[in-house]
Amino acid sequence: MNKILALFIFCVSCSPMWLYAANTTQGKLLYDQNCSICHGAQGISTMSSAPNFKRGEALSQSDFTLLKHINSGKNACPAFIGILQQQQVFDVIAYLRTLYR
Ligand code: HEC
Repeated sequence: MNKILALFIFCVSCSPMWLYAANTTQGKLLYDQNCSICHGAQGISTMSSAPNFKRGEALSQSDFTLLKHINSGKNACPAFIGILQQQQVFDVIAYLRTLYR
């Protein structure tokens, strides 16, 4: 029992993602509202300088790196800290990964 508890605490402490399962349906809604104007409805970017998510551009980075960039913004990509909650950003990231095919 203690071993299971210890393993649980270990997993939770090393991976915050365990606390929250990302929701791609919610992610799509948020993406359509906040990101599709530049990144395109299907991830085919409408701005030449924006990565094309359908081709997997920028998606080789970890969820945490993407979270950091989405929170703080990058050049023409606006910062979403204070606009999206952290779990909403994780929903959007999970959705971005479904666009690459
Ligand atoms: C006003 C247009 C615009 C909007 C709105 C926008 N982006 Fe961007 N995004 C860009 C541009 C342009 C870049 C390229 C930035 C660069 O590398 O110079 C970019 C880059 C990115 C990157 C790659 C960053 C990296 O690590 O290289 C991610 C991820 C991203 N955007 C996600 C999002 C998400 C998620 C949203 C919505 C919540 C969003 N963007 C909204 C224009 C936009």
